[in-house]
Amino acid sequence: MTTAETTDALGRILAPAAGVRLHRADDDSAWWRHAVIYQIYPRSWADSDGDGVGDLPGITVRLPYLRDLGVDAIWLSPFYTSPQADAGYDVADYRDIDPIFGKLADVDALIEAAHGLCLRVIVDLVPNHSSDEHAWFQSALSTGPGSLERERYVFRDGLGDDGAQPPNNWESVFGGPAWTRVADGQWYLHLFDPKQPDFNWENPEVRAEFESILRYWLDRGVDGFRVDVAHGLIKAEGLPDWDEPLHMLGDADGVDHDHGGKHPPMWDQDGVHEVYREWRRVLNSYNPVDTPGHDPAHDRVLCAEAWVDSPERAARYVRADEMHQAFNFDFLQAPWRASDLLESIEDSLAAGDAVGAPTTWVLSNHDVVRHASRLGLPVGERRPNGIGIGDPQPDAALGLQRARAATTLMLALPGSAYLYQGEELGLPDSTDMPDEARQDPTWERSGHEERGRDGCRVPMPWEGDAPSYGFGPSDRTWLPQPEIYGSLAVDRQRGVAGSTLELYRALLAARRDLRLGSGSLSRIDGYGDDVVALVNAADGRASVQVLVNLGVGAVPVPEGWEVLIASGPATADGQLPTDTAVWLRPAE
Ligand code: NOJ
Repeated sequence: MTTAETTDALGRILAPAAGVRLHRADDDSAWWRHAVIYQIYPRSWADSDGDGVGDLPGITVRLPYLRDLGVDAIWLSPFYTSPQADAGYDVADYRDIDPIFGKLADVDALIEAAHGLCLRVIVDLVPNHSSDEHAWFQSALSTGPGSLERERYVFRDGLGDDGAQPPNNWESVFGGPAWTRVADGQWYLHLFDPKQPDFNWENPEVRAEFESILRYWLDRGVDGFRVDVAHGLIKAEGLPDWDEPLHMLGDADGVDHDHGGKHPPMWDQDGVHEVYREWRRVLNSYNPVDTPGHDPAHDRVLCAEAWVDSPERAARYVRADEMHQAFNFDFLQAPWRASDLLESIEDSLAAGDAVGAPTTWVLSNHDVVRHASRLGLPVGERRPNGIGIGDPQPDAALGLQRARAATTLMLALPGSAYLYQGEELGLPDSTDMPDEARQDPTWERSGHEERGRDGCRVPMPWEGDAPSYGFGPSDRTWLPQPEIYGSLAVDRQRGVAGSTLELYRALLAARRDLRLGSGSLSRIDGYGDDVVALVNAADGRASVQVLVNLGVGAVPVPEGWEVLIASGPATADGQLPTDTAVWLRPAE
């Protein structure tokens, strides 16, 4: 890190005190280095046929909303043929569409419509496990022990004289044992639900199959893949016992566990990187790099979902010949404290820069309590895996205020940012959903200890006065919508000054105009310990200063700067209140 400039390109004073440069401006020709990517959870975004489950034609019709919002790309959670035991993350056919979502022709139409609106399309790839209803698993069951078909999954004999004990002591992420016994006495591994058997990635046939799946979707025109459980494919040799809990989806308490220096045998094994190097070669072949014809605008990308212990471990997935991006869960898990946010930002940028990769930023997704609710919980306490009736409830107003400030911070940062559907409306989690309505396997598998992820997966409200709040033509929704969703619907916020939707639109438009996604970033000192103060700048571009006030008192806006966008109103005397963020530009 070097000392930052104290003036901008026009020689105007930057900040109250010189700071420290955290990241240098990037070349912005490669779209994925700075793109804002909007996650669509297909079952919950838009329902075209009124069956209560969202679908692909519903998405296609609503795509202009995303162009108007100002995002660059969409990521679609799985829409493949699936018994839906884990909401589609249990794939039975990787080359076809589940009838609840539509047909192959619908995905083709969606890709074409998205491209027509200049939106790139990233699809979800689930390589760690299939569904137990996948043809390969069915033939592994019928052919029996010792067959080549069984070699595609992780089958083992059990322990004990009669083999009645599982092969090791691993637990599933969703609770309960990670092994299930089949009729002939062998056991198969499933790090998730029993309906999600893990593939054996030591088997070349599995590798060849997934390369073929990549090509299948690239040939259909997708721009990239979000890779599910990217850190799980390879397991440590001998599948040694593991006495610690088998967390994923982040240790829910937000604390890094060093497991006494031991490395979990099921996660983040070095062997996974070889797989991604091979995949990168496949993707590059669609837009050959290092050739005169290479146009970075046509790069196809890979993004790792890897819940690993640190930004440094995550950066290993984005070395030059591996993936393009990895989710930055460190930022998502940072407690709402200036020092924690700054540390996460600095570490994330440093880790990405060390391997020449862009950093990504994310605050919400379909696996965690939405940030409008999460940030309304007491700071520094365990991050719950779902909130339900009888649980401590978030402070909704505080949560929304902080969420708006957190997003205002996130969208000022260089790198690529992921948004989760509905966060642009300030949607909270559904925190009073009746437990009988829950569908996430976590709730049952954990013996009703973890409520799970249904609260963040509730169908989108589009129209405040329509049945299902405009989610579909009927009043059916696969999860119940809380009443508050009506008042937060798109039509209640569109064009309304100060609404969360208009805040997102303003941030996204300014981020694009000012090219913040590829700017340099410096920390500004001098505001005290409770303020995050950063400057995003680059040669020839106007500087943007972002201030987030996490202290108890209001903070004056520095002289010579004017407010471009604020996450909430200023105090009566024009200062920045607690839990509020602003983007400032040099005063005219
Ligand atoms: C991560 C996905 O985001 C989550 O929803 C899913 O349950 C697990 N991977 C298993 O596929």
